[in-house]
Amino acid sequence: MLLSDKMWKALNEQVKWELESSYMYLGMAAYLNDCSLPGFAQWMREQAKEEVEHAMRIYNYIEERGNRVELLPIAAPAKEWADVHEVFQKSFEHEQFVTGLINNLVDIAVAEKDHATSVFLNWFVTEQVEEEDTFRAVLDKLSFVKPGCSALLFLDKQMGKREEA
Ligand code: FEO
Repeated sequence: MLLSDKMWKALNEQVKWELESSYMYLGMAAYLNDCSLPGFAQWMREQAKEEVEHAMRIYNYIEERGNRVELLPIAAPAKEWADVHEVFQKSFEHEQFVTGLINNLVDIAVAEKDHATSVFLNWFVTEQVEEEDTFRAVLDKLSFVKPGCSALLFLDKQMGKREEA
């Protein structure tokens, strides 16, 4: 069964948000690499890959429902941050924003009694808890480190161990 216009529009827009998230994290990876923090950069590259996967999950679902995906423009990401702390603070806030978007999608699905989409979105609801927790954990570690000190280099090594998505 086709998606309602409202549900389609919101899901179609979420494809854009996930791709925009990927673009944002890739921009952060470039910044972190330029800061001589290849481990943090690698971590962000993996995050960027995950966001493309999120986008494709929704992309595929829209098609499975018999609708067409319409790709929307993606905003250029920021280029500069004060330091690695700010990068992760902004990322964490961004994930909270995405959680809000997912919750809004669930609200629409529930209001429309679109059970299939509700079930589909369950994965994202759980994923957002994990996403926020992942960024919060890095922020917690960073809170013990002053930028520029050797502990940051140690943490950089740890971050570089993130497994491929
Ligand atoms: Fe796709 Fe990080 O939320």
